[in-house]
Amino acid sequence: MTFNNSVVVIGATGMIGAPVTNRLVDQGWQVTAIVRDIDKAKVKLNAGIQLIKGDLKDPDGLIEAFAGNDVVYLSLNTGPFEKDAAFKTEIDGVYNVIEAAKQTGIKRIGFLSSIIKDYQGIDWWVFDVKREACRILLDSDLPVTIFYPSNFFENFPGLQMMGSRVVLVGEQKTKSWWVGTKDYARQLTAALQQTHSEDREYPVQGHEPMNFDEAAEVFISHYSYKKLKKTRIPIGMLGIFRKFSVKIDYNYSIVYAINHYDEQFQSEKTWRDLGNPQQRLAEFTRSL
Ligand SMILES: NC(=O)c1ccc[n+]([C@@H]2O[C@H](COP(=O)([O-])OP(=O)(O)OC[C@H]3O[C@@H](n4cnc5c(N)ncnc54)[C@H](OP(=O)(O)O)[C@@H]3O)[C@@H](O)[C@H]2O)c1
Repeated sequence: MTFNNSVVVIGATGMIGAPVTNRLVDQGWQVTAIVRDIDKAKVKLNAGIQLIKGDLKDPDGLIEAFAGNDVVYLSLNTGPFEKDAAFKTEIDGVYNVIEAAKQTGIKRIGFLSSIIKDYQGIDWWVFDVKREACRILLDSDLPVTIFYPSNFFENFPGLQMMGSRVVLVGEQKTKSWWVGTKDYARQLTAALQQTHSEDREYPVQGHEPMNFDEAAEVFISHYSYKKLKKTRIPIGMLGIFRKFSVKIDYNYSIVYAINHYDEQFQSEKTWRDLGNPQQRLAEFTRSL
């Protein structure tokens, strides 16, 4: 089976979605992004990407946007305020995508998940949602490819930097196999174009196992715009305030999981099927 080279992306304005979507264009895809806010999308996305205003909550809009396309790529997230929400992005949104995909003959759905979603050290509703999303997709009878990345390099400029500080919370006892969206987008393209990648699940990891401290040192030493300094917030501080704030509780849980998850290298098959990653954190930082 061959696909046309057009893809519909949902989540293109996200921290990870934006660089990946921009790179899909570089790799020859005709990209249509379904976005909630066209002005935000114009700032984050390169020209040449067709923007359609839409929402996962609107199934008719999805059907209209999917028509004539073969591939849909989802770069969604579960935010802190979704715990008791009537509509969960990665569950109800995914159900709406599956229904629209069935009605429009979509031949492949690519889905961005996370390697850490199977961490068992805490009982966290967000990981339940993320596991459920994958189950729904794998049970959908549609050809799906799911990706489970480690930490992205993009976290440093996107989340960890505050002014001239690189903020770390607690201490990561283990290491993550950091990877950049440049290599992920290349692997994503390879997977979406290969028939044998359907109903496959791919861990996405880079070459360099590093804890947050080690990665921050590399980022700081190769960042050229200004001098950066590492700052650490004790995780106990978030622990004290988590009961007063949904957002702090969310951040505490994700940081706790990252700091304790014993990530093993498991991407041999990904590299064999989809190609080796090329970029190191130092080069990514210099390219900013
Ligand atoms: N950061 C990492 O190192 C890392 C590592 C592994 C996996 N991941 C995974 O990467 C995924 C994406 O993360 P991210 O930081 O890019 O998330 P994000 O910035 O929160 O982006 C979420 C995207 O989904 C869109 N969206 C949300 N609700 C929608 C709706 N109802 N209809 C249409 N679009 C909707 C958002 O649009 P708006 O712009 O309109 O809000 C945004 O474009 C997450 O699942 C995360 O677990 C991240």
